[in-house]
Amino acid sequence: MKLSSLSQRLGGEGAAAWDLHFQALEAAKSGKDIIVMSVGDSDYDTPAPIVETCVAALRSGDTHYSPVAGSEKFRNAVATRHQAATGTTCALENVTICAGTQNALFNAAMIALSPGDEVVVLEPMYVTYEATFRASGATIVPVPCPAGNDFRPDLDVLQAAITNKTNLIAFASPVNPTGAVFPRSDLEAIAQAACQHDLWVISDEVYADLIFDGNHISIASLAGMSERTITVSSLSKSHAMPGWRAGWAIAPEPFTNELQKLMLCSTYGLPGFIQQAAAFALENDLDEVDNIRDGLQHRRDLACRILEECAYLKFQIPQAGMFLVIDVQETGLTSAEFAERLYRKEGVSVMDGSTFGPSTVGTIRVSFAMSDEILSDGYNRIVQFANSLV
Ligand SMILES: Cc1ncc(COP(=O)(O)O)c(C=O)c1O
Repeated sequence: MKLSSLSQRLGGEGAAAWDLHFQALEAAKSGKDIIVMSVGDSDYDTPAPIVETCVAALRSGDTHYSPVAGSEKFRNAVATRHQAATGTTCALENVTICAGTQNALFNAAMIALSPGDEVVVLEPMYVTYEATFRASGATIVPVPCPAGNDFRPDLDVLQAAITNKTNLIAFASPVNPTGAVFPRSDLEAIAQAACQHDLWVISDEVYADLIFDGNHISIASLAGMSERTITVSSLSKSHAMPGWRAGWAIAPEPFTNELQKLMLCSTYGLPGFIQQAAAFALENDLDEVDNIRDGLQHRRDLACRILEECAYLKFQIPQAGMFLVIDVQETGLTSAEFAERLYRKEGVSVMDGSTFGPSTVGTIRVSFAMSDEILSDGYNRIVQFANSLV
């Protein structure tokens, strides 16, 4: 029996990048001395009031089918927040609840793209993007955000990348892996290109609440953009809720209607008790959420101080998120070799930066979302390993 052509498009380097990470997780679980620094899951627990809201919702019997588009309460909470952040009008009709940003991205890609289309994606890009966009049958046209440009987009290349097959521009800001936050001028240039060529834009804002330096600007807030932008995000990072799969897509109403048809035949609604807790999370300014951001900023600074001690590792201070991108080229190894040998010798798992795109070839991506003690141990092992090579 043969498998579908879709299944062949779901592979690729991005999907394979998780191999070392899964090995490390297994080894750590079996009690080996392994430090997992390869994933964007912080050690913070979901704030207790959110958990309590979920438990109460379960006890009250919110265990039946829920509306396909998401509960009104959660959708309204998302709309209110987006409206306050962007100054644009956002209503219930613009919001679809999805199983995390990942599910929102996939759904948006399916509605925006057809086989034969091209999608301009800024790279380095989150590792699932490749399979996500290719699943639609479209071709990815990457546009670099190189270290030499502070990991911001090369706008001339962006303009040149658009052809008559382009139907979508997709990017994340803040960026995973680099932690770059695109300034207004870059977003205006992207917006101008999208308006000029009549393109959809997917804006992945999952790290928007974890900015340490600079401000987040939603591209949907720029003139002419709310009618062509699909903003995707979730509570995974900001509220330490990755396992809850509580995310959303905000889009113009005609696009939203199509998204909801896709939800009907894929998820048929998401758990009501999760949505009650998620709505509570958005409706309340919890101190715990500020503590997560402040704690990550402290950890970023600690990690940078340790890395500064090593002459062979180069990095730019990330403005946001939970990762450092470290250039390992002066050690004489490729980034894949560095990641593999670091794991075998020091028991630290990191991501090979080249899997995020050509702009991060020669780098590794290392999380700083763990306790000071584990972080110091892990980063010191990385420095020790780099020093041992040169
Ligand atoms: C840029 C980016 N987009 C999307 C996701 C997926 O997030 P979620 O947990 O909301 O599906 C991640 C997760 O690390 C990410 O880094």
